[in-house]
Amino acid sequence: MTSSPPHIPLVDLLAQYQAIKAEMDQAIQGVIESGHFIGGEPVRKFASEYAAYCQVPYCIPNANGTDAIELALASLGIGKGDEVIIPAFTFVATLEAVCNVGATPVLCDIDPHRFTIDPAKAISLVTPATKAIIPVHLYGQMADMDPLIAYTSDNSMFVIEDAAQAHGATYKGQRAGSIGDINTFSFYPGKNLGAYGDAGAITTKSEWLYTKVFKMVNHGRIAKYDHEIVGRNSRMDTLQAAILSVKLHHMEEWTRKRRAIADRYRLLLADVEGIQLPKAYADSPGVYHLFVIRIEKDKRDDFRSFLKAQGIETGIHYPISLSRLKVTTDQLNIHTHCPESEKASEEVVSLPIYPELTPDLQDYICDHITNFFK
Ligand SMILES: Cc1ncc(COP(=O)(O)O)c(C=O)c1O
Repeated sequence: MTSSPPHIPLVDLLAQYQAIKAEMDQAIQGVIESGHFIGGEPVRKFASEYAAYCQVPYCIPNANGTDAIELALASLGIGKGDEVIIPAFTFVATLEAVCNVGATPVLCDIDPHRFTIDPAKAISLVTPATKAIIPVHLYGQMADMDPLIAYTSDNSMFVIEDAAQAHGATYKGQRAGSIGDINTFSFYPGKNLGAYGDAGAITTKSEWLYTKVFKMVNHGRIAKYDHEIVGRNSRMDTLQAAILSVKLHHMEEWTRKRRAIADRYRLLLADVEGIQLPKAYADSPGVYHLFVIRIEKDKRDDFRSFLKAQGIETGIHYPISLSRLKVTTDQLNIHTHCPESEKASEEVVSLPIYPELTPDLQDYICDHITNFFK
């Protein structure tokens, strides 16, 4: 009798819930029984815990990571007539946020090993209209921040870290979300720290920016009905804050496990000819939101189908470089060639990675990858 193959998802949120079910159920029940669903102690508590986690004095929880970028840009007064440099290889949200404040996105190519913005290329794109650079810490790997910070602080420009994929990552000892002027996170469910719905946050060291964004996310007010500026509703729900506080206490352990899984992939796949493993950076250890390998573009579809037939899910983050998206070329009329981003979009494959992935399942994945290339 042949047994059916296991199903190995890219991310297993049910396994995570089962591991923390008792404390999670209690936290959710606590909010429901409090009868308070907007603001309140759970949101304040998460804000202070997450600020501490990011090693910054201030965190403003908000509704989602896309809004967080838009709020960060708007808080710096960036809008019409301004240019903002972003990597061409990221989720579309970074581009949308720039457009939605009325500024012009300028696409910059990536460092092909780190998959993050190439600092030298970013600096070469600066014009008198450039107001900010948004490095995105893709896949949990922080961008090379020092050259960007050195250049922008000498030239009166801002840096906004898009840390949506990098909760807890560090760069030369500094946590993601603690280096730029104002920085953003997403807690989309599949992120390393994920809510049970949409949620995001903004972190900063500046009290002035904190106060401004604190008002912006909640109808321009601090006190009820005392509206001081034109704001919006981009609050984080009380339930999501309670959920995130529970999960935050597990983050160190989960990150350790993700790193161990990444190390094991490197070990088990080291001799497989035909794949390129992600590079590890000793001074900026990643948190492996995704474990992304590169393979020849002509083999990618067959590779994914082969693994799928064995029950192994894979993903492509991202199949189209921002420089080639229709929104960029057709709607925004931006025509930029970003060769490394475009090449990466044709070659990347994300393998399953989540803290609950067992060594047995990982062996199974690696055996099949090895067989494919034999
Ligand atoms: C790099 C990056 N930036 C921004 C976002 C947007 O976050 P959200 O989905 O919470 O709006 C995401 C999330 O998918 C992301 O991966």
